Amino acid sequence: MSSGIHSVQHEDRIFPPPADFAARMGTLHVPDLATYQSMHERSIRDPEGFWGDVAKDFHWFKPWSKVLEWNLPDAKWFVGGQTNACFNAVDRQVEAGHGDEVAIIWEGEPNAAGPHGHEVRHITYRQLRDEVARCAAALESLGVKKGDVVTLYMGMVPELAVAVLACARIGAPHSVIFGGFAAQAIVDRVQDAQSTVIVTCDGAHRRGTVVPLKANVDAACERLPDVRHVLVLRRTGTDVPMKAGRDVWWHDVVAKQPTTRACEPVDAEHPLFLLYTSGSTGKPKGILHTTGGYMVFTAATARWTFNLVPNSGQVYFCTADLGWITGHSYIVYGLLPNRVPTLMYEGAPNWPGDDRFWSIVARHKVTHFYTAPTAIRSFMRWGDRHPAKHDLSSLRVLGTVGEPINPEAWIWYHEKIGGGRCPIVDTMWQTETGGHIITPLPGATPTVPGSCTLPMFGVDAAVVDDHGHEQPANTGGLLVIRKPWPGMLRGIHGDRQRFIDTYFSRVKGMYLAGDGARRDQRGYFWIMGRIDDVLNVSGHRLGTAEVESSLVGSKLVVEAAVVGMPHEIKGTGIAAFCVLHPDHAANADENMRKRLMEHVARDIGAIARPDMIRFTNGLPKTRSGKIMRRLLRDIAAGKETTQDTTTLEDFNVLAKLRESDEA
Ligand code: PRX
Repeated sequence: MSSGIHSVQHEDRIFPPPADFAARMGTLHVPDLATYQSMHERSIRDPEGFWGDVAKDFHWFKPWSKVLEWNLPDAKWFVGGQTNACFNAVDRQVEAGHGDEVAIIWEGEPNAAGPHGHEVRHITYRQLRDEVARCAAALESLGVKKGDVVTLYMGMVPELAVAVLACARIGAPHSVIFGGFAAQAIVDRVQDAQSTVIVTCDGAHRRGTVVPLKANVDAACERLPDVRHVLVLRRTGTDVPMKAGRDVWWHDVVAKQPTTRACEPVDAEHPLFLLYTSGSTGKPKGILHTTGGYMVFTAATARWTFNLVPNSGQVYFCTADLGWITGHSYIVYGLLPNRVPTLMYEGAPNWPGDDRFWSIVARHKVTHFYTAPTAIRSFMRWGDRHPAKHDLSSLRVLGTVGEPINPEAWIWYHEKIGGGRCPIVDTMWQTETGGHIITPLPGATPTVPGSCTLPMFGVDAAVVDDHGHEQPANTGGLLVIRKPWPGMLRGIHGDRQRFIDTYFSRVKGMYLAGDGARRDQRGYFWIMGRIDDVLNVSGHRLGTAEVESSLVGSKLVVEAAVVGMPHEIKGTGIAAFCVLHPDHAANADENMRKRLMEHVARDIGAIARPDMIRFTNGLPKTRSGKIMRRLLRDIAAGKETTQDTTTLEDFNVLAKLRESDEA
């Protein structure tokens, strides 16, 4: 398989939408390619007309006066309008008489309880509204006001979705931190957001063990004197200390609130959330999304990409965590307005067995399954017998996200999971784009394994050179978006200059995605990977600088350089070249490697644990002092380097790196 991961260049198998797909779905929002093309053409020619029509399907407390105001790099959508994302996701369904429909299906990781040996909850829109209203009132009772950032650091429990929506309800932007991150990541994000209230759980279930979320928050709070309250949900029953005056239990504070707190009308451009993601420097950046545009874009793209049909028996299961943008957009905000139950699963895909996802699909009659290529590669390795044990015939549409999918994995997914009858939507997008920017539409777009195919409505995607000129077919270039779209980020929290520099500087007048890409003769897009120092590890973004600063922070290492290397399951693995501190230089052994790997895992989180560590006496640098990363990438990949090394300051360095033993 290893040869396949990057061999997307010569794929020419085409999979048209299956002939009986339309009949199976009942309704197709975009029935064929010609319809897609004419809708896309209109959306680019007349974005205001197009998005104005789409937005009419939502509830607005006050209508907008102008659909779009664009002063590069600042977009304002639905200017003057007032709405509420929680209202459109939840209350509106109740008010329209759909309160008894299931909004969220949740399955807990432990599989001891429940009628079928699983802990399952079905939450209707009415129940969800009541709990969200209570949680909103509880947050207010803790002093949260409109505009205050609330930090959410929880496991995949329904109360996380409740807390997200409660924040939206009162106009308090949320900042969700992935539960797999460690204390330092909490400190960085809480400080940057100036957040004073944190919502967490005593712990989270993961592979039969408990992740100590509250303990991590406590450790972080030692460095966060401004945190006033920590609201704690009891999930695992773990014994956790509660700090008097600061910590309060969810079951004490939320349960006693009335359900009367209504949705706060907010301006369309009112901040909805911050979500921290990695960039090319050490500091994660808080991507800002606002209310109206994001709400419209996520719900509409979810409807088109997955062909969602309200209350039609569809059940949608996205395996992402709410700590990532995929969870925000395509578990909560994009799904609930569509009245298709969204399934949240608490635990790991291989607990208690390697067939857990397929068991979930079969038991809940899941129609839509959305996961990452790295997960698919793991499923392949675990073996065909696991999906084969379960009835997967309910599936209609499969999706992938997070990284390019290698054709082998695509074909396996298509055959073994989709039974050859389910279109695969390979959805390309980013934290910054809010929602899908390039993706097939299941009833309309012929798919080619490894290509994310064609742009979403309203997205003027192109592959250009540094001057913004479009590249000819099959020529690599920079992926850009030439016009604003409703789901685009509105800024980086507290760092205007970084916003401009990162996204709007290299190619004049266009949004730079940070990915290399090409278009083929059909106009289909092929993503070729990041052009910056961001790694895509198992579909998660990680800045090389973050891992480097953690290694140096161990005090065992004086200098570190981190690069990506090919990895069969993760897509990209993490390779770290370290210069040990003189006091430890004699201990350059396996033990030291393990110590450093553990240090990074504890410091940032398990996803950042290096796969390979090499010790060296010095790092290869150019005369100007820049680390020669390409050379290190070649070495990490075990390739003979072709790079001109004449600029190496110290040829010995290269020689030593080559000689040094492998982890
Ligand atoms: O490199 C692209 C890759 O993931 C990056 C965005 O990461 P993040 O903001 O964490 O969001 C991931 C989930 C939306 C992109 O710049 N990426 C994402 N989806 C795809 C992809 N690369 C190729 N194909 C995709 N479908």
